[in-house]
Amino acid sequence: MSIKLSSGKEIPIEMHKTRMIQKISLIPVEERLKAIGEAGYNTFLLKTKDIFLDMLTDSGVNAMSDNQFAGMIRADDAYAGSMTFYEFADAVKDVLGYKHVMNTHQGRAAEHLIAKVFIKSGDVVPTNYHFTTTKAHIELQGAPVLEIYYDGALETESTNLFKGNMDPQKLKNIIKKYGKEKIAFVRMEATTNLIGGQPFSIANLKEIRQICNENGLLLVIDGSLICENAYLVMQRERGYQSKTVAEIVREICSIPDLFYMSGRKNTSVRGGCIATNNKELFDKIRPWLPVYEGFYTYGGMSMREIGAMAVGVREMVDPTVAGCSVEQIKYFVNRLLETQIPVVTPPGGLACHLDATKFLPHIPQSQYPAGALSAALYIASGIRSMERGTVSMDRDKEGKEVMADVELTRIALPRRVYSISHIEYAIDRINWLYKHRDLVKGLKFVWEPPVLRFFDGRMEPIGDWGRNLTEAFKKEVGNN
Ligand code: F0G
Repeated sequence: MSIKLSSGKEIPIEMHKTRMIQKISLIPVEERLKAIGEAGYNTFLLKTKDIFLDMLTDSGVNAMSDNQFAGMIRADDAYAGSMTFYEFADAVKDVLGYKHVMNTHQGRAAEHLIAKVFIKSGDVVPTNYHFTTTKAHIELQGAPVLEIYYDGALETESTNLFKGNMDPQKLKNIIKKYGKEKIAFVRMEATTNLIGGQPFSIANLKEIRQICNENGLLLVIDGSLICENAYLVMQRERGYQSKTVAEIVREICSIPDLFYMSGRKNTSVRGGCIATNNKELFDKIRPWLPVYEGFYTYGGMSMREIGAMAVGVREMVDPTVAGCSVEQIKYFVNRLLETQIPVVTPPGGLACHLDATKFLPHIPQSQYPAGALSAALYIASGIRSMERGTVSMDRDKEGKEVMADVELTRIALPRRVYSISHIEYAIDRINWLYKHRDLVKGLKFVWEPPVLRFFDGRMEPIGDWGRNLTEAFKKEVGNN
């Protein structure tokens, strides 16, 4: 949540205290240059000993609560029939309103099962916007993903409060063009990750539901970031100001046929799940669970994680949990706007996103500006961010580059992990980097895997710009 100071200034405030800590260290810039070189200029390949603030992701790195740890210790370890699973299922029923739930080892495993069961080769999947792993699973089943966001949703500087909305007219056009029998399902992603953590409105979700009803189409929600979406609906959508996050989450969940999520974000554990009230759909997926994940009452997760998830599902709708990163991101983005740093607006959930195309306008997309910015930010600060641009797109079947719609450097805010002073440090170093942006040049791949290349691919700088940036930093800031 945020609090107003007596000066009128608003700041995000932590509604928790720190009772266990993990030490971090900031290695000098010379060592950071060496580390990013060894990591092939790919921040995924850095080691945490070389990282000061790990803002790569909010996935699996949130701080759990004391009650979640207690849930882990209490967990009933059994291969089959564990009461911990039933505690989790009760929490899902109470919070999300679903009678049927199965765990998966994480979100992409849910995507794998849903894609396997519901997609035939030659189908299409319309979505408000894809996520990397979702697209990979859908395409591996032989179906293209059709992105049908509203025009303008990809503009990074915007006043559109619901850039995650799906354009209903475009959905109708797709139904006409492909025929409803070719549409495996319609997918809506909450707090749409790759366009900068942007929410959909409930009015839009209902409109899409109506079209699905009229055409007999399945509606699937990716709820990995459902609580941030609900928190932003509470702040932004007319008619929702007096509702609670819990009520809004429940309402969102009442709309689709099928719901899945990565549990690594909102519930702060390492796992995932698929849930529904439609037993027929559930029974289509369930036989595949023991083949790919594990027996029904553990689904590839450890019972301890399910114990923590049972608590996490109940805690995630507390506004001080649902809003903790949203309020920090708002502060972060607004502070960067004071110095005209190109950043995604309105601030959303998950992360503060720099627009690398505007930050580094001299780098063509074919030389991966968002990847270069992520590497440069690490050199200048020890902060690990994530490339969310063309590096995160895989090549097409002919091996040609697919240019991303937006080139973003994502600086994620894991829940309950960092404080304002960390954010202020990040703001300072981003400003320093912006003043020296001309020193940063592009990247080229030296090795790339055929799928999800951003994870493991290795790159090198075009020209020795890492060295030049390090020298400038040492001269002005010192070797720190
Ligand atoms: N869907 C969305 C919207 C996600 O953001 C993610 C993961 C997944 C599905 C896959 O879930 O990682 O548990 O297998 N997002 C992480 C991120 C990786 O960094 O944004 P997973």
